[in-house]
Amino acid sequence: MRTDWLDSDYLLSKEGTVSLNGKTALVTGSSRGIGRSIALRLADEGANIVLNYFRKRGRAEETAQEIQTRGARVHIVKANVGELEDLDRLFEEAHQAFGGVDILVSNAASGVLKPALEIGDKEWNWTVDINAKSLLYGAQRAAVSMKQKGWGRIISLTSLGSVRVFPEYSIVGVSKAAIEALTRYLAVELAPYGITVNAVSPGVVETEALNFFPSKDQMLEWSKTRTPMGRLVTPQEVARVVTFLCSEDAAMICGQIIHVDGGYSIVA
Ligand SMILES: NC(=O)c1ccc[n+]([C@@H]2O[C@H](COP(=O)([O-])OP(=O)(O)OC[C@H]3O[C@@H](n4cnc5c(N)ncnc54)[C@H](OP(=O)(O)O)[C@@H]3O)[C@@H](O)[C@H]2O)c1
Repeated sequence: MRTDWLDSDYLLSKEGTVSLNGKTALVTGSSRGIGRSIALRLADEGANIVLNYFRKRGRAEETAQEIQTRGARVHIVKANVGELEDLDRLFEEAHQAFGGVDILVSNAASGVLKPALEIGDKEWNWTVDINAKSLLYGAQRAAVSMKQKGWGRIISLTSLGSVRVFPEYSIVGVSKAAIEALTRYLAVELAPYGITVNAVSPGVVETEALNFFPSKDQMLEWSKTRTPMGRLVTPQEVARVVTFLCSEDAAMICGQIIHVDGGYSIVA
């Protein structure tokens, strides 16, 4: 089987399936990993990109350079999406740079890997604020310009840890469960305005996030073996599904959790 196209960011854009010309996409945590691929893919379809990062300026600048090379406009904003003041500034800058947000991809994540019985208040707040509170308050802010235009797309990144138990994943799993519930509530409230809200749940994707897992190599091997497709999901494959959800073809997909995991989640 040929697999050389798996890592290509250009596969669908050559066919021009989704036009996002004139739209603005704010992708949280888009300096590296899955968020970076999503930003590049949306840029390929013509969207202006608001590129958000928290700590690593150099990585944000590299990704911004790549977006510009592809002919799209980009504005970088350093902001901790778990802080309301930072979120306010993020949306204000998006508004100043491009006149509002049409697509919000709530992708940034952080968290403490520990058993549930060892989680403290600070760790709970840190994880839930960055992963889930950011979706609620991000969606409230994004909805302002989306409602005015009668069109919008809100997509968040979740994981199977929302419904299954993985070692040490307790509090991150809780934050992902909150994202999925919120996805459904927001979807119903925003549907009358032409705004769709959905979440994408990837299988294991090899990014720097995995370096924090104590048993990374074991986890990668286990995932490959257990996945019916026999391999890991690439960031580009996740980005293509997010881009599809932004298209007109996906206008009636409302409040869904889309699994992009090569069948991992359906195997007993
Ligand atoms: N990788 C997987 O196997 C996998 C599987 C299922 C779901 N997901 C989900 O997919 C999403 C992306 O994961 P990933 O693996 O690509 O992560 P990653 O490689 O760790 O990248 C995280 C990104 O988020 C940014 N970030 C971290 N904390 C932030 C904060 N407080 N405010 C703003 N930005 C922040 C980082 O910027 P800095 O470097 O500047 O901090 C970076 O750009 C997450 O929601 C994750 O839960 C991942």
